[in-house]
Amino acid sequence: MEKVRFENRVAVITGAGGGLGRAYATLLASRGAKVIVNDPGGTFDGTGSDPTAARKVAAEILAAGGEAVVSHDSVEEWESAQNIIETALDHYGRLDILINNAGVLRDKSLLKMTVEDYRKVMAVHLDGTFFCTKAAFALMKEQSYGRIVSTSSAAGLYGNFGQTNYGAAKLGIAGLMNSVAQEGSRYNIKANTIIPTAGTRMTFTVMPEEVIDKIGPEYVAPIVAWLCSDSCNVSGKMFSAGGGYFSRAAVIEGRGVVFDTGRSITVEMIAAEIDRIMDLEGSSEHGSAVEHAGALLARLNNVHDKF
Ligand code: NAI
Repeated sequence: MEKVRFENRVAVITGAGGGLGRAYATLLASRGAKVIVNDPGGTFDGTGSDPTAARKVAAEILAAGGEAVVSHDSVEEWESAQNIIETALDHYGRLDILINNAGVLRDKSLLKMTVEDYRKVMAVHLDGTFFCTKAAFALMKEQSYGRIVSTSSAAGLYGNFGQTNYGAAKLGIAGLMNSVAQEGSRYNIKANTIIPTAGTRMTFTVMPEEVIDKIGPEYVAPIVAWLCSDSCNVSGKMFSAGGGYFSRAAVIEGRGVVFDTGRSITVEMIAAEIDRIMDLEGSSEHGSAVEHAGALLARLNNVHDKF
């Protein structure tokens, strides 16, 4: 099989000063990509800053014979997110790949969570992904080429105690990518979502040390690199990866029930049919909201024959 390479490709990776971002940056650079290593540094909860985080990763890439420049701008604000993307333009004249990876944690149960903790997490994860994607999309559209990978989480897809802020932001990111994928389809811009599981400082407190050591970020990086490559032929999809496991995740909808609307539909009818409404046997996946609406109308038509 032909080796996947990134010669002449320019990649911005946010939050690349450590953890998963560092693994993506070093892998892409080792395959020929010119990499913008973005990271303001700081603690896992988003306080403080440390320019050495991004510098160390860039130095590692340069020492291995690759190409990299650093960016210390935060993804949180529209202006600074634009600066990150402009760094690619200033240094290399184009941008082909964006990996939205930056993240912070402010875990607390709902009643203890302050509005500030909620807003901080939404700002870095969801706003940051929107801002960087919007700025990058303009360049990608012009060159009719782009690969965007954004980072969701099992906490977003499935929920996690103490992570209402993070879960909301992370599922929001998957929703954002679904629509970006559709807007990008005419311009060869592919947008996908990664759901990683890896031993990093973010999981240090929740995973036992022996697990952390065995599921490093290098086991997530290969699929992210493929999603960033020319050969990537999928868009608007979610992938789960960790410790050597790779899989696609999806939202599905059951066959449900259709009541005759010729008479009123009562709460008791729902109560009587709740098991069938809950049943996911024979469920489907929809490629877009339009496809979903078409499938719904077809189901109604089978019963009512009025559309
Ligand atoms: P990490 O803490 O090592 O990486 C996050 C990086 O984002 C840090 O280097 C941090 O300095 C940077 N960052 C924080 N605020 C930023 C900002 N405003 N602008 C730019 N960069 C900023 O943790 P890890 O695990 O590598 O996380 C990477 C991504 O993967 C995050 O989005 C995280 O939520 C996500 N994730 C990680 C999982 C895991 O198992 N490690 C599980 C699910 C999601």
